Amino acid sequence: MQPMKNRASISHIHLESIDSTNEYAKRSCHSFDPGRITCITAEEQTAGRGRSNRQWISPKGSDLYATFYFRLPMPLHHAHIANLAQVIASSLIAVLLDRGLSPRFKWPNDVQLDGKKVSGVLCETAFHPYYADFFLGIGVNVNREKSALERIDQPATSLKQETGHAWDLKEFLRRLQERFVDDLDLFQREGFAAFHKRLDSLLAYRGQPIRCFDGNKEWKGICHSLNEDGRLNLLLPDGQIHAFFSGDTIPNVIQ
Ligand code: BTN
Repeated sequence: MQPMKNRASISHIHLESIDSTNEYAKRSCHSFDPGRITCITAEEQTAGRGRSNRQWISPKGSDLYATFYFRLPMPLHHAHIANLAQVIASSLIAVLLDRGLSPRFKWPNDVQLDGKKVSGVLCETAFHPYYADFFLGIGVNVNREKSALERIDQPATSLKQETGHAWDLKEFLRRLQERFVDDLDLFQREGFAAFHKRLDSLLAYRGQPIRCFDGNKEWKGICHSLNEDGRLNLLLPDGQIHAFFSGDTIPNVIQ
């Protein structure tokens, strides 16, 4: 398989209105060049989707809704599929750090500011015998107003709320695209190891009681660390460490 070309070859499709940029990418990828990254963005999504079949409210014009489509040879070396969502979270974190903000990484792939969600990632994959197509969707609350943030079913914030000024969406997207192209290249060369240290150092809730739902069962423990392979290490009451590949975490507020 041809290695991916350099960043100059990223292809961008911007849509006025779409159900979901991930759905559009899955429907349309047969016409995309699999040797490049194609980034699809939209002004609004009428049926934006989050992880675990949740809705991603996507009002017109204020925020970033983007899906990065690309093809990678399989199997991945020194990495897991789930790491790709963590790579783009790391790209966003780098962009925010560059702008003087203090983001946190909420496992498995959310980004927080001031303890509130500012971004989430939905990674979908189509497997083929020797390669896989990735549809890496990221939503970032950029200029969302307080009243709209209050309609989200969990504590959420936006870049505008945190900094007190509106952000230029195009400029913000350009920075994220540049960073992600470099990060995907690094990921292909070095695997998740290149991202582990930064994400672990910015892990939200470290040392705090959390609940982790792994799809079957809810676990309670102390948020310990990010495993070197991207799993979450939870310290259980019996002193054992349990590592989670997938799931959702929330703080376990003790009354
Ligand atoms: C989550 O935190 O639950 C993931 C949210 C992912 C939202 C983005 S917005 C662009 C792309 N299109 C979608 O329908 N979802 C993702």
